[in-house]
Amino acid sequence: MKTTHKRASIYVLAAGLACGAMNAWAAEKATVTPLFDQVSESVTIPAEIYGQFAEHLGSCIYGGLWVGEDSPVPNTNGYRNDVLQALKDLNVPVMRWPGGCFADEYHWTDGIGPKENRPVMVNTNWGGTVEDNSFGTHEFFNLCELLECEPYLSGNVGSGTVEELAKWVEYITAEDGPMAKKRKENGREKPWKLKYLGVGNESWGCGGNFTPEAYADAYRRYQTYCRNFNGNNLYKIASGASDYDYKWTDVLMKKARNHMKGLSLHYYTVPGWTGSKGSATKFSDDDFYWTMGKCLEIEDVINRHDSIMTVYDPNKKVALLVDEWGTWWDEEPGTTPGHLYQQNTLRDALVASLSLDVFNRHTDRVKMANIAQIANVLQSMVLTKGDQMVLTPTYYVFKMYAPHQNATFVPLDIQTSTRKVRGGREVPTVSASASKKDGNMHITLTNVDLNNPVEVSIPLDGVNAKLNGGEILTAKAITDYNDFGQAEKVTIRPFDGAKIKKGMLNVNIPAKSVISIDLSL
Ligand code: AHR
Repeated sequence: MKTTHKRASIYVLAAGLACGAMNAWAAEKATVTPLFDQVSESVTIPAEIYGQFAEHLGSCIYGGLWVGEDSPVPNTNGYRNDVLQALKDLNVPVMRWPGGCFADEYHWTDGIGPKENRPVMVNTNWGGTVEDNSFGTHEFFNLCELLECEPYLSGNVGSGTVEELAKWVEYITAEDGPMAKKRKENGREKPWKLKYLGVGNESWGCGGNFTPEAYADAYRRYQTYCRNFNGNNLYKIASGASDYDYKWTDVLMKKARNHMKGLSLHYYTVPGWTGSKGSATKFSDDDFYWTMGKCLEIEDVINRHDSIMTVYDPNKKVALLVDEWGTWWDEEPGTTPGHLYQQNTLRDALVASLSLDVFNRHTDRVKMANIAQIANVLQSMVLTKGDQMVLTPTYYVFKMYAPHQNATFVPLDIQTSTRKVRGGREVPTVSASASKKDGNMHITLTNVDLNNPVEVSIPLDGVNAKLNGGEILTAKAITDYNDFGQAEKVTIRPFDGAKIKKGMLNVNIPAKSVISIDLSL
């Protein structure tokens, strides 16, 4: 089968042999051709595609990011040092907070001022945990400053007022006036910059159970009073659809497109919303291939939302922001119900690389994506237990892909076999992304075949390229994961399976692995 991975579409050009039908002794082969003649220097991969999401949910904030100044866990002003360093190494471009469903029950005034005076509340969405509000606006914005990332606020529409949201924006961004005075009294003289403002979250569900028509009207009203103070320029984001809810996108675009910069989309790689979602660590090969198919389905979903948006917005002025995505498995046995704590195997790493490849080739419409979530919740970057921290396989994919941030997009023509998986989807064996920056080219390649390596040929089209090294992420078993107190089973290692010969980059990708290769051009 031949597929052409262009900027916003995959063109199936010819049918070929499915894996199962191939000769057992024939090495699997694929060709990945960089389309240098189609590179446009103005088409870059927005760094925000590699965005993060931190919700007041389980131990994402408390224990994961924040331990407080008095904690025995080594910390800087309350932020745990190990996680801080791990996140700095990832170049986190943007972080969404405080939810998620939590956002529509959050009252920001509870989270400012002296900690001992902050009221407690019950986090009704997530396990009924008592929230003491010790992590609030100042703690979030100061964390973003430490990480040098853009803050993305999710405002409360479901249970909050227009005035409350308007004043939050003023508190954060105004230089003078009553809200700025309050902020200064709480220790922050200068305003912060706030670009990304979400007006509600999942407003069709936990964010208020709105109809699309009612939410479109509410969105128009709430966003009106979120002002630009002192040169701050808000990028307003309407709460968008989940998965296949195309009607939501249609109504929002019809009624509110002139008042938004972005419309969100949530898509989880989840076996279903009722009953067991399956174990994060115990699964069959068949489950694995189904997972690859389900995560790739996001490409069809993006295409359909995009085409609806294009009816109203042919020049793609309104962005689609996938501000929640990732795997959702059963909670780990013995952990607190409702805290969504799950392990993270090599399978999750491959979901990450395939999904990022999809986002990278749709950035004409998709300008941001935020994996759920940054720590200890769903498909996280890090897991923590007391003073210990584990870097997940997904973390390592984000690390290997970080050079794509803000780099010039290089379209690829990918010819690879496919496998028909449960659910009926054809999953390509090889997935890839490529980008150029400062005379270097960064290529990331994934082989989803659990048993066979793939010999990939990458024609360099007369470009005089030099190999600068490579890395590989794989493990003995697809179910392998990193655990506390044990040597890492899934980690980045140097990769020496790439060679350039007569203008061809040949890469031998081992089974179930992600590779990154750096070339100087
Ligand atoms: O990420 C967990 C939850 O998933 C979020 O709170 C909500 O927006 C979504 O349903």
